[in-house]
Amino acid sequence: MYLCTPKMIDQETIQRIMDTARIEEVIGDFVSLKKRGANHIGCCPFHNEKTPSFYVSPSKGIYKCFGCGEAGDVVGFLKKHEHFTYPEALRWLARKYNIEIREEEQTEEQRERQNERDALFHVSEFAQKYFADLLYNDEMGRAVGLSYFHSRGLSDEVIKRFGLGFCLDEWSAFTDHARRSGYSDAVLEKTGLTIFKEDTGKCYDRFRGRVMFPIYSISGRVLGFSGRVLSSEKQAAKYVNSPDSDIYNKSHTLYGLYQARSAISKAGKCYLVEGNVDVISMHQSGVENTVASCGTSLTTEQIRLIKRYTPNVTVLYDGDSAGIKAALRAVNLLFSEGMHVRLVLFPDGEDPDSYAQKYGSSQLQDYLATHEENFIMFKTRVLLDGVKDDPIRKAELVKETVQTIALVPDLLERTEYVSQCSHLLGVPEEALSSELAKAINQLRQKAYSEAAPPPTPAPGPMPEPEVPSGPKLPPAKLNLPVDAREKHLISLLLNYGDRTIDLDVADENGRPQQVSYPLAELIVNDLLADDLSFNDPLCQAIFKHYADAVAQGQPADASYFVTVDDEALRSFAVSLMLDTHRISPTWRQKNIYVPLPEDNLQADLTESILSFKIKCLDERIADNAQRLRVAKDDADVFALLEEKKNLIEVRRNIGIMLHRVIN
Ligand code: CTP
Ligand code: MN
Repeated sequence: MYLCTPKMIDQETIQRIMDTARIEEVIGDFVSLKKRGANHIGCCPFHNEKTPSFYVSPSKGIYKCFGCGEAGDVVGFLKKHEHFTYPEALRWLARKYNIEIREEEQTEEQRERQNERDALFHVSEFAQKYFADLLYNDEMGRAVGLSYFHSRGLSDEVIKRFGLGFCLDEWSAFTDHARRSGYSDAVLEKTGLTIFKEDTGKCYDRFRGRVMFPIYSISGRVLGFSGRVLSSEKQAAKYVNSPDSDIYNKSHTLYGLYQARSAISKAGKCYLVEGNVDVISMHQSGVENTVASCGTSLTTEQIRLIKRYTPNVTVLYDGDSAGIKAALRAVNLLFSEGMHVRLVLFPDGEDPDSYAQKYGSSQLQDYLATHEENFIMFKTRVLLDGVKDDPIRKAELVKETVQTIALVPDLLERTEYVSQCSHLLGVPEEALSSELAKAINQLRQKAYSEAAPPPTPAPGPMPEPEVPSGPKLPPAKLNLPVDAREKHLISLLLNYGDRTIDLDVADENGRPQQVSYPLAELIVNDLLADDLSFNDPLCQAIFKHYADAVAQGQPADASYFVTVDDEALRSFAVSLMLDTHRISPTWRQKNIYVPLPEDNLQADLTESILSFKIKCLDERIADNAQRLRVAKDDADVFALLEEKKNLIEVRRNIGIMLHRVIN
């Protein structure tokens, strides 16, 4: 959505806002919190729960729900809870704490662009008011425009709510009115409201003689229009839309989202339909959580807009073949964006609007509730009929279905689809699973080669054609369950990475000397020296962030993870940051008093690294044994036996060191 870019808030103001805002006060405005120990707890506002598992830590400035995993800082909370953008959240906090916002000085160019965009917004709003006014206060408007909307069964209430209007059937009634009100030709042309003929210099209204559907941004500003002809004569396009402009990008906009957004949040679900009138009819029938793409096939940006409110989308499509095709295309894209998708197919010849108008709102709601199905059911039901007795076409259908399942990011969901698909298509689960593994692998390779394009060959004579070796994949990970040791080491990094530890090292003359090392650097260098990595991708992602910081000589900073976009990573890191009391096992059993980890940081660190290394070695030993079992060649067997001996030796030495630390 192309929103007006707010002026930049200057860094000092941002700092002041962040210093002043108290997370427990801000969240306390939305959630009832009780103090417990150092934290405040309450019932999570992001999922339904009766017993509180939502923690707010005033000292760390972070929140985390141990039920659903939501986590972040005060700005993250406002973004999630109020659907604010970053600057919107800052402005909200500034208002709450009476902080005056200083805007950064803009360059001349930025100011001009800003003025131009402002002018486009201004004329769009002016046009919307003008068109809407004609609908009720002009004779033609009433006789033609309003009676058209009424004939389609729309009530005055929704007509007003959606800001509908009418553009007179004259060459330039709107343009003349806008010019008289002081709008420049340049602005009228840029919004596309007026079309200028280059050769004659004449101009006319783009939407003349059409009923008008304004298109709003999420914050309710008019971005553009869609205009529908009234007559059913074929020569004119049924819908004419505003061209893209500095304020309007149709593939980044959803029709009806402004009116639907709070209903979407509340219902935890968004209905996706094809047409503007479908949106309005659904709305009038009490199904307000409905949007449509603006005359384009669904785009990734539009899906991300929905995702701001819910991950659940139900696609509603006509039962004709074009409708089904569009639905299936949308499904693939929705899956790739990690959405949970369901479908409702209307009877052939009906769309949501015609169905609602014919049968009324309670029947429509009934139909939606009883005809929702997942895409496997949908696809099987719709397509299987045609291919029942044709094994080749059936095989194609299975393959295509598996390719779509491969797009589903969630393993459990995928498994569920495989089992349903097996049932409905009569194909054994194992066969589907192995097809699925192939499809997923292909997707990964594709993603991998897209992420790292091959180097462009140096200019020169054509090289010999090479045997394609395929994209280079990362070394195979040993597939063992995540161990507490991985988490423990990572939580040390997060919580104490910026502390320093004094180490005794030998100077060049062999004399002992104390050196202060940042703990993050110690851990990173130690693990990298042995070429160790983490099995758990989240642990590995955190480790990599620290390793990169160390490599660049930058201080490593856990606060990075509190605001990182990746939700899973953020949630995981924050839980480790809140959870320090649970992670250190050994020191507390040994003494009567329970020292804080920092009192014993060095011992804890050594223990953590050593036990992590043992875990890695055990994995390598198991892997070695596995390879030994299948090795055929004598040379391979000898190499593996040699490796085994080394591994066991190192394992024993580390075991001895660990024993020393613990006892
Ligand atoms: N559309 C468009 N340009 C066209 C036809 C359609 O932009 N020439 C877009 C419009 O946003 C329209 C949507 O595609 O709402 C769906 O088109 P269609 O199914 O043809 O129209 P309906 O929504 O059924 O329109 P109506 O009910 O008004 O006849
Ligand atoms: Mn229709």
